[in-house]
Amino acid sequence: MAEEMSIREYIRRKPREDGFETAMFIYQSALTQMSSRIEVLNNELNHVYSYNPIEYVKTRLKTPESIMKKLRKQGHDIGIDDMIEYVNDIAGVRITCSFFSEIQFLAAMLARQDNLTVLSIKDYLGHPKESGYKSYHMLLLVPVGLADAVVPTKVEVQIRTMAMDFWASLEHKIYYKYEGNAPDYFARELRECASIISKLDAKMMSLNDAMKKMDGE
Ligand code: GTP
Ligand code: MG
Repeated sequence: MAEEMSIREYIRRKPREDGFETAMFIYQSALTQMSSRIEVLNNELNHVYSYNPIEYVKTRLKTPESIMKKLRKQGHDIGIDDMIEYVNDIAGVRITCSFFSEIQFLAAMLARQDNLTVLSIKDYLGHPKESGYKSYHMLLLVPVGLADAVVPTKVEVQIRTMAMDFWASLEHKIYYKYEGNAPDYFARELRECASIISKLDAKMMSLNDAMKKMDGE
């Protein structure tokens, strides 16, 4: 069996290779592995229960610029060690579903998977951010199987409804455009949109529940 080791240890054993590139290759492999797990899970739910909770899945690898920016912002060293230790969202997966109740369902399905450790949870459903942001974040440790090692790697999974995703993408654009200094008007309107979206999610979910109940009768 391949030996389990940290990213740091794995890099140390490959002195001839570029450490940063090796680390990014491992994070990318963790993403590949998570996408395929999620795809299998979705296919299984579809096949066995004719249930399609997932609308779409997006993965992204954080850019070197964005990693550096985060390290600098948090007052860490710009280097591989601090990157591995403190930047938890180098590998990011976003799962978008239709209905609010599916978020917790999918989170529980993931948490139950073999070979996967939940390091931490940020529940912005019950506790939305000041901005109005809602989503469910899980920081997972996923074993990446390589030729001569198994490397547990952090992956940030965000699970949200399509409506929450719609809100987050506009908020993100506004935030970037104004570099965090958007006029008060935007922040107010966005909070109002967040509240409308919560009502919409609740209504859509109860309609869907009512339909399922009728189907069951
Ligand atoms: P980051 O430093 O941005 O990673 O935030 P954090 O350390 O507080 O972690 P958190 O889990 O709260 O946020 C991680 C990610 O969630 C971000 O990179 C965004 O993708 C998303 N996110 C968090 N807050 C907001 C928000 O207010 N608006 C939007 N659009 N996205 C957010
Ligand atoms: Mg982030």
